Amino acid sequence: MNAMIEINDLYVRYGKVNAVNGMSLSIQVGEVFGLLGPNGAGKTSTLACIQGLVRPNGGTVRVAGHDVSREGMAVKALLGVQLQKTALFEELNASELVELFAAIYNVPMSKADVAALLAHFGLSQKATARPTQLSGGQQQRLALALAVVNNPQVVLLDEPGTGLDPQARRGVWTLIRRMQSEGRTVVLTTHSMEEAQELCDRVGIVDGGKLIALDTPQALIARHAPPLPPAEAARRQPNLEDVFLALTGHGLGGTHASQDDESAWLAAVA
Ligand SMILES: Nc1ncnc2c1ncn2[C@@H]1O[C@H](COP(=O)(O)OP(=O)(O)OP(=O)(O)O)[C@@H](O)[C@H]1O
Ligand SMILES: [Mg+2]
Repeated sequence: MNAMIEINDLYVRYGKVNAVNGMSLSIQVGEVFGLLGPNGAGKTSTLACIQGLVRPNGGTVRVAGHDVSREGMAVKALLGVQLQKTALFEELNASELVELFAAIYNVPMSKADVAALLAHFGLSQKATARPTQLSGGQQQRLALALAVVNNPQVVLLDEPGTGLDPQARRGVWTLIRRMQSEGRTVVLTTHSMEEAQELCDRVGIVDGGKLIALDTPQALIARHAPPLPPAEAARRQPNLEDVFLALTGHGLGGTHASQDDESAWLAAVA
């Protein structure tokens, strides 16, 4: 076993909220690993600890053997990141944004290198377009391109497929698979069972800040999905949604806590 990321007994608290509640997991070199869970499960908080953006209240995170809290700079040099919401300078076009990121990372890039990177992400026609002039799918592809400017060993992608139409989403999946074939380790978050099933070598199911299951999608389904009623079995295969329901007793709409908040809010506005 060759671990790229080792998370050991991780805790993150924001005031009274236990966002990450004793998470341990190991992500292997070269795999596409998915953190799957509803809103508020603690996915972004976990990624934030891997990047060193949030200091955990307990536990450790190591990337390629470097302790994130003690060797933050060494870890940052290994990482490329696409945040859940990408805020890009609106005054710069796609080429200029790549040049800016290259300058931040201190990576020498010629005009030809910039053009080649944009072409790799299907953005040759959009080199002079600003982010506001790009479609959602194109913006997401630009965010992925910017995440690999520093040729990182590990790419952290926070909901790369969210908000995209099915075709754009498949385009993003192709780019993520390509990142893997280039030898990178990819850690992504998603609410989408389909995305996790299609894209990830292994999936960690997160709920209420805890990892409640971890395996390949096929193994999770084989072990946890209950048998489908005959009428349903005739129409579809068991999937990760069935696994999630079986393990948590609720769907992907939210954790218990946020569902309670949601019902209270709905009652208040009714
Ligand atoms: N900066 C913060 N301050 C206070 N609470 C926070 C902060 N960031 C996250 N939280 C809370 O921590 C919990 C976990 O949030 P997190 O963003 O990690 O979830 P997530 O799984 O990424 O959810 P989503 O799918 O909605 O992005 C939530 O209850 C959230 O409200
Ligand atoms: Mg999130």
